[in-house]
Amino acid sequence: MRGKNIIIGICGGIAAYKTPQLVRALKKEGANVRVALTDGGARFVSELALATVSQEPVYRKIFPPADTPETDYTHHISLGEWADALVIAPATANTLARLAAGLCDDMLTACFLTLRPGKPVLIFPAMDGQMFLSASVQRNIALLQEQGCLVFRPESGELASGQCGLGRMAEPDTIKSRLEEALQKPTEHSPLQGKTIVVTAGPTREKIDGVRYISNYSSGKMGFAIARAAVERGALVTLITGPVNLETPPGVERINVESATEMLAAARNFFQSCTLFIGAAAVADYRPALPFEGKMKKNSSEIELTLVKNPDILAEFSLQKSSNQLAIGFALEMQSDLVNAQKKLEAKQLDLIAFNFFDRKTAGFEVDTNILTLIEESGATTELPQLPKEEAAKRLLDAIEELYVNKGINC
Ligand SMILES: Cc1cc2nc3c(=O)[nH]c(=O)nc-3n(C[C@H](O)[C@H](O)[C@H](O)COP(=O)(O)O)c2cc1C
Repeated sequence: MRGKNIIIGICGGIAAYKTPQLVRALKKEGANVRVALTDGGARFVSELALATVSQEPVYRKIFPPADTPETDYTHHISLGEWADALVIAPATANTLARLAAGLCDDMLTACFLTLRPGKPVLIFPAMDGQMFLSASVQRNIALLQEQGCLVFRPESGELASGQCGLGRMAEPDTIKSRLEEALQKPTEHSPLQGKTIVVTAGPTREKIDGVRYISNYSSGKMGFAIARAAVERGALVTLITGPVNLETPPGVERINVESATEMLAAARNFFQSCTLFIGAAAVADYRPALPFEGKMKKNSSEIELTLVKNPDILAEFSLQKSSNQLAIGFALEMQSDLVNAQKKLEAKQLDLIAFNFFDRKTAGFEVDTNILTLIEESGATTELPQLPKEEAAKRLLDAIEELYVNKGINC
């Protein structure tokens, strides 16, 4: 905790009265603490108390008061840039909604939006139990979790309303422990921190004519999950994606392409500079040799389409990579047979291949879960259970981190 820059975001719930204690506990551990207080929060805890315990001015409004000329023109982004972690405690239903919607109407929400990729956000909701379980609050929490925020369920016990039940904010000591864990995990121990990573995702579309194409059912979900998980570990991620219907994970640089040829051209720009290339895209193997200009007419009962082989983007990178670059691929097979995946790994000289069996219900294209078997260059295999793609992505990155350590790569 020593020397870490921590923002405590405080919202308008009765549990705000505990926050000066939290600020003190973090200061005692040697952290630099700044407070972002909402207008609601200021109704429950005094700004003076928080400024005194943090020994810093309390941050509240984005705009300066009317009679004060603006002197710091980057004030609204300065907190987010400064922070190593953001802790929001208590988080009200109102602020959960503001965060989930991406609003930026006070310093707390501005800080949330400008925090650097990979920096942990810990959210401790506190409110009446019924309110917490409402569909709206749960939906907002799910959205925030999807973005990588750590949201902690309120505790059960006596509530300020005099009732007993779910809704209490965690005690300052518990919040401090959760923060310590979060600070250790992503930023200090991941060999991926600061690494330039390229992930390809989604299908490619290969033009038959101006209105038709050949493609496949890839949704891009696995590649997007990997990109998100890598940013959470502090990596600098470029996601080169075919046409998919997915939001760009926060902190990821996204490049949209359509065909395999376009994907290769985009990827080649990173072949020298990236330290890790993860080919999760389902690149079409073939493309029409001569796409028709305009729309083909339907005037014969049969047509012949000549297909030519597409470039193998991952192989091109892998076969020219240097000793401190890693190439990771995916092998989707219709049968639970590792032999083809192993052959692919060897032919392309990959460092690891993630084999997945295609059953359309629990693994492979479109679905939200996957069942991966990770095969390393050494032949070592790790079978993962059926997992949500977000979790499977984390396990894949764990294995890649081990490769970095085993190969002694630290570029
Ligand atoms: C006495 C009182 C207690 C409140 N306690 C909570 C609470 O524990 N949790 C919550 O989500 N809202 C609570 N509210 C409602 C919030 O203060 C209100 O939604 C406010 O707009 C929150 O603003 P903020 O999210 O910007 O801090 C309370 C309101 C009052 C008057």
